[in-house]
Amino acid sequence: MNRSTVPISLDAIVSGLTGLGLRAGHHVLVHSSLSALGRVAGGAQTVVDALLQVVGPSGTVLVPTLTGTEADGEGVALDFDLAQTPCWTGAVAEAARRRPEAIRSAHPTHSVAAIGAAAARLTSDHEQCITPCGTGSPYAKLAADPDGVVLLLGCDHESNTTLHHVEELAGVSYHLHPEPVPGVVRFFDRTETRDYWVHSWGTPRRFSAIEPLLDQRGLQTRRAVGAADARLMSAGLLVTLALDVLRADPRFFIAEQARMSGANRTGVGD
Ligand SMILES: CC(C)(COP(=O)(O)OP(=O)(O)OC[C@H]1O[C@@H](n2cnc3c(N)ncnc32)[C@H](O)[C@@H]1OP(=O)(O)O)[C@@H](O)C(=O)NCCC(=O)NCCS
Repeated sequence: MNRSTVPISLDAIVSGLTGLGLRAGHHVLVHSSLSALGRVAGGAQTVVDALLQVVGPSGTVLVPTLTGTEADGEGVALDFDLAQTPCWTGAVAEAARRRPEAIRSAHPTHSVAAIGAAAARLTSDHEQCITPCGTGSPYAKLAADPDGVVLLLGCDHESNTTLHHVEELAGVSYHLHPEPVPGVVRFFDRTETRDYWVHSWGTPRRFSAIEPLLDQRGLQTRRAVGAADARLMSAGLLVTLALDVLRADPRFFIAEQARMSGANRTGVGD
């Protein structure tokens, strides 16, 4: 954390986000590192407040509230409690998830919590998605919305879950375990069970390889918010570009070391 004695205020974060291009009416999916911002007065709650202030009543703040782990896979049943299962995607995501007005999508590994105008629409029916980030997921819905944007706040494209959505659209096989696992989703008033195909952690990615392509096409803005390096992009344009790239080279997002080993089948052209 930045040890500056002057804490970063809500107004400073609002100003940084506005300068980045975030505006009223945006539905913004936020991947974040609180410590990257420097010392924030009021901590994660201030960041959530700043995001809500900028997008306003017609916009929506979404955070990934991921719960999947490296242990997921064959022989491991999923058990997800919509209200109780904490996420590992950081203090800002957890602060947003715990707000009473937040609506969390009910996916056992790749849920999203949302606050604002489109929260119910963007989070609905995720439990019915038998893969984490495919058609019908909040990631797909955000990409289909002209006001859908992705914000990387103090983290880089390696944290950009929307690129897993692109992997699903492209049909690369390394993204998912080959066999589904049983999952329990506990709602407030009921429990649902179904089989889910879960994310496979075995293939190291290089999602940051999309960065120069976004920059060349002017598809992301980048500037400091507090002490954090921040990036903002249209979710739809990110998906269109990355899908083109991945269809041309199904191994594009596989880290160099894994590409060299040839250990990973892509399911496309193999
Ligand atoms: C993993 C990750 C969350 C870690 O970031 P981080 O800044 O170290 O941790 P958090 O965002 O949870 O913030 C908590 C930390 O902020 C710091 N902190 C505490 N109070 C603070 C304040 N008022 N102001 C600023 N930082 C503060 C502390 O270091 C704290 O860590 P601690 O609880 O261990 O003491 C981040 O690197 C990351 O990957 N974010 C993206 C996650 C994501 O969306 N992944 C999707 C994968 S597909």
